[in-house]
Amino acid sequence: MMTRPEGATEAPADDVKHLQACINDLISVLALPAIWTGHGSAHVLRTLLDAFLGMLRLDFAYARLIEGPDAPPIEVARAAPPRDVASRPQEVGAALAVYLEGGESAGATRVPNPLGPGDVSIAPFRLGLDDEAGILVAGSRRPDFPTKFELLLLRVATNQAGISLREVRLLDEQRLERQHVEEERRTLATLVEHSPDFIGMATPDGRVIFINPVGRRLVGLGDTEDLGSTRMVDWIADDDRERFLTQVLPSLMRDERWEGVTRFRDLRTGAVIPMLQSAFVIKSPRGNHPRLLATIGRDMTEHRRAEMALRAAQAELAHVSRMATMGELASSLAHELNQPLAAVVTNGSACLRWLDRDEPNIEEAMQAVQRIVRDANRAADVIAHTRALLRRSTAEKTLLSVTEVAREVLALVHPEVLRHRVVILESLANALLPVLGDRIQLQQVMLNLVLNGIEAMMEVSDRSRELAIRAEPYRLEDGSAVLVAIQDAGIGLSPESRERVFDAFYTTKSQGLGMGLSISRSIIQGHGGRLWATANPRHGATFQFALPCAALPVV
Ligand SMILES: Nc1ncnc2c1ncn2[C@@H]1O[C@H](COP(=O)(O)OP(=O)(O)O)[C@@H](O)[C@H]1O
Ligand SMILES: [Mg+2]
Repeated sequence: MMTRPEGATEAPADDVKHLQACINDLISVLALPAIWTGHGSAHVLRTLLDAFLGMLRLDFAYARLIEGPDAPPIEVARAAPPRDVASRPQEVGAALAVYLEGGESAGATRVPNPLGPGDVSIAPFRLGLDDEAGILVAGSRRPDFPTKFELLLLRVATNQAGISLREVRLLDEQRLERQHVEEERRTLATLVEHSPDFIGMATPDGRVIFINPVGRRLVGLGDTEDLGSTRMVDWIADDDRERFLTQVLPSLMRDERWEGVTRFRDLRTGAVIPMLQSAFVIKSPRGNHPRLLATIGRDMTEHRRAEMALRAAQAELAHVSRMATMGELASSLAHELNQPLAAVVTNGSACLRWLDRDEPNIEEAMQAVQRIVRDANRAADVIAHTRALLRRSTAEKTLLSVTEVAREVLALVHPEVLRHRVVILESLANALLPVLGDRIQLQQVMLNLVLNGIEAMMEVSDRSRELAIRAEPYRLEDGSAVLVAIQDAGIGLSPESRERVFDAFYTTKSQGLGMGLSISRSIIQGHGGRLWATANPRHGATFQFALPCAALPVV
């Protein structure tokens, strides 16, 4: 279909025909979007230019579209046969570039023909809704190009194309977004698949809907076995199920989080698996109701085993260190034993003498025997204490009074105290709440601290060697506690050594093992308490520990 030069005088019949042709062209242009749906931008431009060349007497048409800052521009060109520029639109674009800088112009511009000799009229149009999107140029050698109708047609079609191109772009973006989301979903799924931890999900009413491969293996499900009617409770060990249903689940639903240990069981072997769980509620995107229950859990079996091995090793070490401490005490212990034993001998001889008389003095003899019994008991006590400390014992926690333990330790170090002319200042509260602890271990801690204090004062000669021992009520973050402080007037602690002294094998003594404080700290921590050191304002150091009081049953 051809348009006519405007302004030519025509017969009315011709006018009608011309108008019909124009309307047909317009209708074709309006139908273009229908063939564009589902295609990319390049297709839209190619068919648009083809339509232009088919409808208007053009020599060429060119379009360039910039789809984004990173994408190369799409360029399309068409020329009236026999010329063919479809394969080299860039050349047309380059030849026109200087004339297109001003963008869209209302009328025609006469420029040198980019495809051959002579001049052409060009009509540039903005393509797309923002200026940057692109440009479309139609060119014709006709001096009357473009006529008003051609201008109208080109503008309508270009607008249509603009809308379609935007749609294409939006669809592309949506597709990319979907791809992106899908990729992300797959990445997350891979993470879950490869997680060494148990990951599972269930509906709020307890039906299991997902479990990762590690989880499957853990509870004895095959890789492909259908979860079907599996329920969360099926995995909980029999003796933990009650607690799971009455405490764990309700608290998860209430707080939307639950952390702690639950006991799973292997569905095939029945073996119990302690699991450290971090469970949480996944809520529906809209509304507030729980959509899924999820948990990430870790098999604690290995951890428990390692913990037990560690505890055994610690006990072993504590034992060795006790032996070493007792070795240090041996000479004064011998001395301590010597006294009652010598007294036994003396009293024994006296007793014999009282009895050996013509008229035996039974009264005196009995008194001597009583003294023998008393001294022998004293010796037996010392030996019993020593034996208890040397006994290889696993921790055995009982309710005990730290004051009592402190008194026992003071009795044990009594000879050492005398030997080093140390003055003990005792301030032990009697009515302290009991702690749940291992007597031997706590004795060991106090023995260490007291001996360290005595040793720290060995070189002190310009002041009295005072060792103060206090036991008093205290508060830890989570409740009532007792504090035991052992304060010496010795060489003291430098700020740097205040923490280092707790390191294993840190010692400044030629005969030292350097294990005392490190073991003491682990014992106190094993009792849920804290052990720390401070420097005194004037002389010496204070080592103190706090232990939580045992929760007493309410009577
Ligand atoms: N009361 C104290 N005053 C000053 N220094 C101390 C005191 N207690 C411990 N230390 C320092 O901490 C080190 C480590 O103590 P410890 O672990 O009991 O091992 P050891 O007594 O075998 O050296 C000691 O060698 C000493 O240097
Ligand atoms: Mg020590």
